Amino acid sequence: MIRLSKRLSAIANFVDKCAVVADVGSDHGLLLIYLASLGKIAKGYGIENKSGPYQILKHNLESHSEAELKPLLQDGISSLEKDVDTIVLAGLGGDTIVGILKNGVANLKNVKTIITDSHTSIGEVRRHIVALGFIIKDEVLVLEKDKYYEICKFVKSDERPAYSDFEYRRGPIIIKSPAFRHYAKVLIKKMDAILEKDLPEAMKELVRQEREVLLPYEN
Ligand SMILES: C[S@@+](CC[C@H](N)C(=O)[O-])C[C@H]1O[C@@H](n2cnc3c(N)ncnc32)[C@H](O)[C@@H]1O
Repeated sequence: MIRLSKRLSAIANFVDKCAVVADVGSDHGLLLIYLASLGKIAKGYGIENKSGPYQILKHNLESHSEAELKPLLQDGISSLEKDVDTIVLAGLGGDTIVGILKNGVANLKNVKTIITDSHTSIGEVRRHIVALGFIIKDEVLVLEKDKYYEICKFVKSDERPAYSDFEYRRGPIIIKSPAFRHYAKVLIKKMDAILEKDLPEAMKELVRQEREVLLPYEN
């Protein structure tokens, strides 16, 4: 059985049993291979837009036969098989995730779950996916090699929750988790270092405001 990093394990935990998964930016394909070897997914599509990673992905997926795993060389979800109910977008920047979802919006009709691990602009990712008719069903903060990752699970819903700006930025579930106390401390320390720098006052004011909101969460 292959071992996944803490970050990829957290993503795997958010995948529902018997899901048909499109792993966009699949790279090595480890996530799909792990899910298939557990017997957790019915089928998996590994999507890569670059030929180098795609060749490795193809080789890796074709060496495993626990579930049907199919490599695809294409840009994001510019096309998507109709049986896909779950999309994973992990290890990508927020602008890339939003771009992929915008370009493939017509292909989201059958998608019930979107799982993200966005490394930048996480607030924009949450906002965009909620605007597509999803709610934030679960979130987890993962600390790996001194870096925090925010893993989010969105599910399609008729509910229209009113998340605050702070909840979009930091995660409505994450801010209630015990791990957020330490993360808030880390963020405040970073903000203190920024406030020491010679930066435009308007920028510093934004940092001060965010720092104020974070202070009650610090342990
Ligand atoms: C940093 S790797 C992340 C790999 C894996 N998902 C993980 O989280 O460990 C990002 C991968 O996404 C691929 N990628 C970036 N933009 C893409 C797009 N528009 N469509 C498909 N793949 C993309 C890159 O080629 C790269 O292999």
